[in-house]
Amino acid sequence: PIVGVIVVAAGSGTRLGAARPKAFAALAGRTILERSLDSVFGMQREAQVVVVVPADLVDEATALVTDAAGAAAEYASVVPGGSTRQQSVAFGLAALGTSVRIVLVHDAARALTPSAVFDDVVTGVAQTASGIVPGVAVTDTIKRVDEDESVVETVDRAELRAVQTPQGFPRAALDAAYAEADREHTDDAALFAAAGHTVSIIDGDALSFKITTPWDLRRAEGVLADSAV
Ligand code: C5P
Repeated sequence: PIVGVIVVAAGSGTRLGAARPKAFAALAGRTILERSLDSVFGMQREAQVVVVVPADLVDEATALVTDAAGAAAEYASVVPGGSTRQQSVAFGLAALGTSVRIVLVHDAARALTPSAVFDDVVTGVAQTASGIVPGVAVTDTIKRVDEDESVVETVDRAELRAVQTPQGFPRAALDAAYAEADREHTDDAALFAAAGHTVSIIDGDALSFKITTPWDLRRAEGVLADSAV
C-alpha cells in the first residue's frame, strides 16, 4: 500500500482511571482500540496499519487487530510502544513497508473518528505534499495567564483551531523530521513544522474527540447508544 496508518495505543491512560491501559478499557462492551480500528479499516483506500501498544499487550492486540482487519490482515501488524507518544510513533514509523509514501498518525483514544476523515487527510497530503491536520473551531473564550493565574490577555479565538488526529504527512519528510527531532512535541504536526515543513488544517469532526477522562468515556457511550453503532 502507498498509505500507512500508525495507531498509537501505548499510553497508560491514568486520567481515565480504568484498571487497564486506556486503549484496552471498555467502551460500550468493546475496547476503545476495537472501536478505533473500525474507523481505520473503514477507509476507502487500502492501507498498511501498524498498531502501537504496551509491550505486555502485543499478543492481545494482535488478536484484536487480525479480527478487525479481516481480508486486510496481511497489511496489519502490532508493535510495542515507548515511554512517550513521540517514541511510540517512531516505533510505528520503523515498522512501515517500503511502498508507503503517505503516513497518517492516529490516537486510538479518538475512538469515534469517522473513516471519511482518514480518507480526507490522505487526499489532502496527496494534493499538497504538506502536513494535513483535521481541526475544529474553538468555542470557549481562551485567556493567556501568568504564573499567578492572572489573566494577561484574551486570545482571539477566530485564529485558533483545536487539532485532532489522524494527522497526515509525506512519508520521507516525516521520517526525516523524526530523525532530527531533539525534543518532545505535543503532536506530530508540531514536530513536522519544527523541521521547516508546512502544515494545513482541514475540517475535523466533533466525533473525533479524544477520550481522556471518565466523562469523555460516558460521552462516547452516549454517542454509540444514540446512533446504535
Ligand atoms: O495521553 P494521551 O491521551 O494524550 O495520548 C494520546 C495517544 O497516544 C493515546 O492513544 C495513547 O495511547 C498514545 N500514547 C502512546 N504511547 C505513549 C503515550 C501515549 O502510544 N507512551
